[in-house]
Amino acid sequence: MRIGPKVPALVTGASSGIGEEFARQLASRGHAVTIVARREDRLEELAAHLRTAHKVTVEPFVADLETARGRDSVVRRLRERSPWLLVNNAGFGSRGRLAELDPGRERAEVQVNVVAVQQLSLAVLPGLLSERDGGIINVASTAAFQPIPFMATYAATKAFVLYFTEALAEQLHGTGARAMALCPGPVDTEFADVAGTVDYHRRSRLIAMTPERCVKDALHAFDRGSAVCIPGILNEVLAQGPRFAPRGFVRKVTARIINNPSG
Ligand SMILES: NC(=O)c1ccc[n+]([C@@H]2O[C@H](COP(=O)([O-])OP(=O)(O)OC[C@H]3O[C@@H](n4cnc5c(N)ncnc54)[C@H](OP(=O)(O)O)[C@@H]3O)[C@@H](O)[C@H]2O)c1
Repeated sequence: MRIGPKVPALVTGASSGIGEEFARQLASRGHAVTIVARREDRLEELAAHLRTAHKVTVEPFVADLETARGRDSVVRRLRERSPWLLVNNAGFGSRGRLAELDPGRERAEVQVNVVAVQQLSLAVLPGLLSERDGGIINVASTAAFQPIPFMATYAATKAFVLYFTEALAEQLHGTGARAMALCPGPVDTEFADVAGTVDYHRRSRLIAMTPERCVKDALHAFDRGSAVCIPGILNEVLAQGPRFAPRGFVRKVTARIINNPSG
């Protein structure tokens, strides 16, 4: 069942891509939306557009989720009311040999992709349970289903998000609140430029999808009460496949796919 428009939504990473699209589709459903990211100009522009288009309250909230200060500021915002429809979407990837990657950036990846997701989820949980309403969508990835050599930190962070959220979804069963892990395959956003995977995304044209389609599928699955959503049938097959193959084989194939810039 669809969460009613009286429940306000908070979307992290709403300044582009999948998060921006979550903000658009939730506003079109009538939710008041708080949109979180670092790029204030993008948030302001989106907020102005959504207010006009959907006549809902849209509040930009600038925060850097890499820092404890930024995460704490969002937690304070979440504690102002309850319940929430929280979309933990902010995240980024990095690609390369671990020894050659910037350790600070790898740590930041864990702070944004994992620590923020856990901290914000825990912040809204008491309200979800006491109000018996609202929910959490945590954006993982099909990268969560196997280790990915040359994107080691990224795949590990997304495995955390998937396992954490799936377990939470089960715990919430029967409480009136819900949680879902969204596991997209390649989506046409700024992700590839940031992660350095433009070549991989280009080679994945067959399974790539638009943010619109990804979020539409996600909200449809969330309305149905799914614990995990993998948008697109091909992505579903590719995500489940590794379970049936030897792990050593999966590691080798994944390494080859991701570390093949020439195509
Ligand atoms: N695109 C794909 O192929 C794909 C596939 C599977 C999963 N995903 C996941 O989908 C989610 C959204 O990514 P996207 O594809 O939409 O990429 P995107 O267009 O690059 O958007 C990433 C968003 O995260 C925000 N963000 C990054 N670092 C942040 C920080 N330190 N503090 C606050 N916000 C931060 C960015 O905002 P600012 O830069 O303004 O802060 C931006 O709004 C990510 O979790 C990603 O891992 C993407």
